[in-house]
Amino acid sequence: MQVRRAEKAGFCFGVKRALNLAMITTRERDGPVYCLGPLIHNPQVMEKLAAAGIQEIAGVEEARPGGKLIIRSHGVGPGILAAARERDLKVVDATCPFVGRAQKLAHSEAAGGTLVVVVGDKNHPEVQGIVDWTGGRAVVVEGPQEAQKLPAVAHMAVLAQTTQPLANFQAVVDVLQQKAGQLKVYNTICHATGARQQAALELAREVDVMVVVGGASSANTRKLAALCRQAGVPTYQVETARELDPAWFRGVKVAGLTAGASTPDWIIEEVERRMKELGEMVAVEENIKDTSVA
Ligand code: F3S
Repeated sequence: MQVRRAEKAGFCFGVKRALNLAMITTRERDGPVYCLGPLIHNPQVMEKLAAAGIQEIAGVEEARPGGKLIIRSHGVGPGILAAARERDLKVVDATCPFVGRAQKLAHSEAAGGTLVVVVGDKNHPEVQGIVDWTGGRAVVVEGPQEAQKLPAVAHMAVLAQTTQPLANFQAVVDVLQQKAGQLKVYNTICHATGARQQAALELAREVDVMVVVGGASSANTRKLAALCRQAGVPTYQVETARELDPAWFRGVKVAGLTAGASTPDWIIEEVERRMKELGEMVAVEENIKDTSVA
């Protein structure tokens, strides 16, 4: 069995950068190091970070004054930064620069009195952070139907959660064009997500089975798996090589492999190695069966 990896898979630039900053912070530490929420949605990496001394906390109030607080790539609002300062925490800002750009745009548009519309998931920390930068005045819509319900206003600006599909963003823009006297459109979608999705889809069309590696709670990993299934290929999502099942590779000539943006290379490589081993194992079993039938 041949195993083919998607052209773009695994860590994106923002996650890699956040992880590097976190590792540098642990090496230079002179007190406790905290991370607000999981630094990345991958339990295996989080275990390694915990072993390196990074403590995950749910709120700034859990941190000991004087410690360091790592802000993950999703970013946070100014309220949390102010609370961290008040608690005498040193902030290590690992906000992805693409998210930072969306925050700045939202902040300056809201400050000028423009109604800011964010296309995305209102429960996602990245979106919550962006809304905070508008003083809570931005409106979040998931798609064009919700956008239809917005009132008509003179000045509106629209931007997107970085992981939004372009088609959904465009559909919202089309609706808002009818609602706003003047609409400023900021496409803040990051291409890392789109490029991974495109590469996964192209590969899924050429293979007999797809394996998608990533944290079970990682939204972008689940989205990759859903896209591969939509392409009509049997698709399995795993966190580690241990979860691979030989039965998935029976009769398979070519297997595809991709990974979410929070999956490190060492896990992808482990899964690839194991897939090749299982492929060989299954081929031997099938050969034995054929010989005994003959
Ligand atoms: Fe940044 Fe894009 Fe990754 S916004 S965190 S590089 S998915």
